[in-house]
Amino acid sequence: MDMIDPFGRSISYLRVSVTDRCDFRCTYCMAEDMAFLPKKDLLSLEELDRICTVFIEKGVKKLRLTGGEPLVRKNIMHLVRQLSRHLASGALEELTLTTNGSQLARFASELADCGVRRINVSLDTLDPDKFHAITRWGNLAKVMEGINAARAAGLHVKLNAVALKDFNDHEIPEMLRWAHGRGMDLTVIETMPMGEIDADRTDQYLPLSLLRANLERQFTLTDIPYKTGGPARYVQVAETGGRLGFITPMTHNFCESCNRVRLTCTGTLYMCLGQDDDADLRAPLRASEGNELLSNAIDEAIGRKPKGHDFVIDRRTKRPAVARHMSVTGG
Ligand code: 5AD
Ligand code: SF4
Repeated sequence: MDMIDPFGRSISYLRVSVTDRCDFRCTYCMAEDMAFLPKKDLLSLEELDRICTVFIEKGVKKLRLTGGEPLVRKNIMHLVRQLSRHLASGALEELTLTTNGSQLARFASELADCGVRRINVSLDTLDPDKFHAITRWGNLAKVMEGINAARAAGLHVKLNAVALKDFNDHEIPEMLRWAHGRGMDLTVIETMPMGEIDADRTDQYLPLSLLRANLERQFTLTDIPYKTGGPARYVQVAETGGRLGFITPMTHNFCESCNRVRLTCTGTLYMCLGQDDDADLRAPLRASEGNELLSNAIDEAIGRKPKGHDFVIDRRTKRPAVARHMSVTGG
């Protein structure tokens, strides 16, 4: 039985944040000094597997592991290996990952071996100093090593860059040529007001309509219907032969075609990235060995999925639209 929400949208995509921790501190994502969840509050890998399996039985076809940084969760490959049985059975169509790339050199070949075909790597700049500035703790050379390992393992790599005003906007043409020259797609993302950070989001925010207009002075962009099941809208770039995606939560609301929900590492289900409403799945998970309570709790939550979000970034709106950081539910 497929999960259908009150607005007739079929829920076929689950994103799972396996940890809220990260080995970077990107300035648009986190404060430098972040309080993380105590380890005892985390679901075990077995519990995460159980929830994912119930979602797959209920019609989820695409599963994305995210974080924080998913590859810093202890023993994460055990979960990936477990989940890969649903690929083998055909119940799950895609198992994928959003990562900052820092640990990819270690894990790329094992991911491929588990049936992962595509991964998203977050990369905002190709300049080592800027990379260090934006991630605070990151090392570009390690990420490059990770990307190379992923490509060598046969994984399709898509790069995700958050578009930041006066930081990487002028660099996007170069990143586009670099990515497309290596057979990687690139997606640019508008920054969303999620969680308290140290910076002022108004200073960082760049509407992608502006970025697109700038790119069109150098590149021929043609809208294409290509879809990966996520919120990106794609264009074909004639000059490079590659695809460029735009994720525009701020300037264009894509909620009408939303097919996804998000699970955190403590078993909280968020029905919308941009709303606070949630459902606790940990209590029904732990209340019995069977999955009936859990399944009912999921149905009840999907029945409350909101129509959409309404993010705003302006000088007057000082508070983030949602209190939790992106690292709680992941990208
Ligand atoms: N707005 C937009 N994107 C964000 N990311 C993290 N925080 C934000 C934010 N506030 C991105 C990361 C990564 C993905 C997981 O989400 O850069 O690409
Ligand atoms: Fe970590 Fe990704 Fe947040 Fe950067 S954006 S701090 S890599 S979770």
